[in-house]
Amino acid sequence: MPATVLVGAQWGDEGKGRVADWLAAQADIVARFAGGDNAGHTVRVGEETFKLHVIPSGILHEKVLCIIGAGTVINPLTLLHELESLRKSGVEVTPDRLLIDARAHIITPAHLALDAASEAALGSDAIGTTKRGIGPAYSSKMARTGIRAHSMGDPEQFGDAIQKAVEEGNRTLEALYGQKASDSTPTVAQYVDAARRLKPFIGDGVAKLQDALEARKSVLCEGAQGTFLDIDHGMYPFVTSSSPTVGGALTGLGFGPHHIRRVVGAAKAFSTRVGSGPFPTELFGALGDRLRGTGENPWDEYGTTTGRPRRCGWLDAVSLRYAARLNGMTELFLNKLDVLSDLDMVKIAVAYAIDGKRVTTMPYDLAVLAKAEPVYLELSGWKGDITGARKLNDLPTQARAYVEEVSRIVGVTVTGIGVGPARDQMVLT
Ligand code: GDP
Ligand code: IMO
Ligand code: MG
Repeated sequence: MPATVLVGAQWGDEGKGRVADWLAAQADIVARFAGGDNAGHTVRVGEETFKLHVIPSGILHEKVLCIIGAGTVINPLTLLHELESLRKSGVEVTPDRLLIDARAHIITPAHLALDAASEAALGSDAIGTTKRGIGPAYSSKMARTGIRAHSMGDPEQFGDAIQKAVEEGNRTLEALYGQKASDSTPTVAQYVDAARRLKPFIGDGVAKLQDALEARKSVLCEGAQGTFLDIDHGMYPFVTSSSPTVGGALTGLGFGPHHIRRVVGAAKAFSTRVGSGPFPTELFGALGDRLRGTGENPWDEYGTTTGRPRRCGWLDAVSLRYAARLNGMTELFLNKLDVLSDLDMVKIAVAYAIDGKRVTTMPYDLAVLAKAEPVYLELSGWKGDITGARKLNDLPTQARAYVEEVSRIVGVTVTGIGVGPARDQMVLT
């Protein structure tokens, strides 16, 4: 069976975790291809809420092998925490269930310190990173000075490499940001210990995936972040430092495009983003708060990784259409439709007005995008609780009309609709 790629179609947090969990039920392998523990993927199974950061959501399916792919960046300490928190929830992760690609890069303590220092130095221009060291870790990779996961195979030497990275990081921190050098000894010891514990999980993820695809096994490539956080195609510089779009799956996992038949985009029925940067349909005041939720429920709009409130707004079909074309999306999964219930009317941005002109393509220049006024299509809202809907016909006519309109404007069929955070709270069309 060919590979399926799942990508975020907006600014991240589109509900990829729950879509991955659904797709993983049919998969032999689930592989994360980019990013690190800046991601937070929520999966609700019964009363249990799992928050996965770098381990693929497929881990909740016993028969699935999970791979943390070559294109990712890994913080060994937070990965151990993640394994421990899964263990506490009754999910024992052994090396026959999880493979860390030897080529993945390591996030060092220096990367964490540099992320924090660079954000602080940017002041009001800060990107609003998750402070997980992602940008500096990918910078080291590109500068060809990074440490790869296979180095954990020799924990003592790995410790020396971390020590060296910290010393170099300290020099940069002092020179660029005027910060005092930190004593890294305790952290280096933690990294050495982490390497000892993670060593059994390290292997050749690329070979494993290629063998599986040749044997007609089913592979799900689980994307993190979202299209507008892509280093090349997102709203630069308010992006992450990896390629969360479809191309990232190929380079991040290491196989050819002929294996991919299905590209599933995950989107919310409205828009959200954490961190700074342009957001044309952002809503402030009561309506923004209404979409964000109360914060009392785990599925309300507060960052899964950082707990920051998410900025909320109407669905932006201009950007969603761009995401559909960029990723060659073959289908779209629209989450959180339930959140739009009981509004008198709902809006979809179908174009931007920029300097008096109607624009339906994505501006690449943020100064131009900053001037974009959304042109809205207004649709009737619907009343009542839709969280129990399981078939299209269970949805009110107006809710169906909303989904059909999204499909029409974006040019991609909506094949799944999220009507609540639980595993079964979805409508498959
Ligand atoms: P991801 O990063 O794309 O995996 O998304 P997150 O897990 O960070 O954020 C999505 C949030 O929306 C989580 O709290 C999910 O439990 C929640 N969620 C996903 N789908 C639905 C849905 O259809 N309805 C509701 N109410 N919540 C949802
Ligand atoms: P998932 O996989 C939402 C955002 C940060 C910031 C920018 C750069 O859960 O959808 P970084 O720490 O990556 O250098 O931050 O990217 N960001 C995310 N926003 N969901 C994510 O992941 C994100 N990962 C990074 O908020 O704006
Ligand atoms: Mg998330």
